[in-house]
Amino acid sequence: MSSSNTGKVVQATYGGRFAEGPSALMLRFSESVSFDARLAPFDIAGSKAHAAMLARCGMLSTGERDAIHAGLDQILAEINAGRFEWRTALEDVHMNIEQALTARVPAAAKLHTARSRNDQVATDMRLFLKDAAGRVRAALRALVGVLLDLAEGAQAVLIPGYTHLQRAQPVSAAHHLLAYVEMFARDLERFGEFAKRANVCPLGSGAIAGTTLPIDREFAASLLGFTDAAGRPRVTGNSMDAVADRDLFVEFASHCALCGVHFSRVAEDLILWSSAEFGFAVMTEAFTTGSSLMPQKKNPDSLELLRGKSARLQGNLHTLLTLTKGLPLTYNRDLQEDKPPVFDSFDTVLLSLEVLRETLRGMRFNPARCAGAVADPLLLATDLADYLVRKGVPFRAAHHVIGTLVALSEKQGVPLDKLSLEQVRAVDGHFDADWVDVFDLGTAMRARERTGMPGPRQTAGQLARWRKHLDADAEAGA
Ligand code: ARG
Repeated sequence: MSSSNTGKVVQATYGGRFAEGPSALMLRFSESVSFDARLAPFDIAGSKAHAAMLARCGMLSTGERDAIHAGLDQILAEINAGRFEWRTALEDVHMNIEQALTARVPAAAKLHTARSRNDQVATDMRLFLKDAAGRVRAALRALVGVLLDLAEGAQAVLIPGYTHLQRAQPVSAAHHLLAYVEMFARDLERFGEFAKRANVCPLGSGAIAGTTLPIDREFAASLLGFTDAAGRPRVTGNSMDAVADRDLFVEFASHCALCGVHFSRVAEDLILWSSAEFGFAVMTEAFTTGSSLMPQKKNPDSLELLRGKSARLQGNLHTLLTLTKGLPLTYNRDLQEDKPPVFDSFDTVLLSLEVLRETLRGMRFNPARCAGAVADPLLLATDLADYLVRKGVPFRAAHHVIGTLVALSEKQGVPLDKLSLEQVRAVDGHFDADWVDVFDLGTAMRARERTGMPGPRQTAGQLARWRKHLDADAEAGA
């Protein structure tokens, strides 16, 4: 490669066709090494597998293969130590590594045999995405673990459940937290399925139409861990799709965006709970901030940022959908823009899951405020209708009767459970003296013990089920 101060560079990788290199402006515009350098470990793993395959198929001697392997190991060590000199003029991670290798190991001039940057980058990204899915899954497991701990301690804390942000029916705080567990467990499952779909090797697809050389795609795929449960290699079935396909990028960003929707909804609940108006929960100081002007303020900034970051995750998904929708097959340089949104979604989701976990870990319920709110007898208006249903009143009629009583209690300024037996019997003759027993919260919760309901035994069972599930998932290591 030659380089000059004018920025005119003739690329050794494709220089033959060109009299002079791209302008400095074009290089600044077209480089991707500033963001794809992080693919280096995957690019090097891919190159090592490719070199091993070339040797196996007689296109490299074992000596050449070993020299290439040693050179790549050395380069990776330098990169990890921050001693590798990345050069923008070499465009991307692939050319930086290949050229650094060729400068040290002459045989590296053969490394790009039967390979294109198109199948190379597709392979790198699948390796990256498999690894990323594993990391996101580990972060999700850790978050769910903290949610389970919190729920464990909140089984006796009762709060109003809300619809339309209006008080609806009583639930335990544990049941509310277990709703989040369900959401994040679905994310866990989604990233697991995603990792399975990512587990197919595009290497050997070349630029678009494979190669005339006698390669062994399955061998390289096996070396890179693109294998099924039985250890059989999995390779892509169409060379054109393999280099043009970005479905996995979109899927990954989509799973991240949905996970973001989940942590944003959790954040919104916690922001409400930590307000003076609700007062159900107290946030740890470590994840709140003060005001530069108002001395009393303790703002839930980590939660607000989580809500904000979820917008970014949706933006990344949208970028990828728009980027790919109108592209003719196969590779187009537009596709270089596919990496920043994927990397940003990965980084954002990983950091957010960690922040949410730690914010939750430090959260405490305020039992007095929860008890005060859940003591509202109107939360049991539906239970009162069920009382009449047990006495044979059709539910629609019972609903109307209780509605009448609610209106009466409002008009008289008397809590629903403090109306007299005479007053309620005047509205419907099915009420007996035991009608006030409906307002016992303990009884109301114990009446909800069917699967998925907030009864105490049901909640304990769900906690145990999730703990087991989480252990099994971690065990499987997927
Ligand atoms: N940096 C490029 C990208 O990320 C690598 C593939 C380049 N291929 C090509 N035909 N120019 O898309």
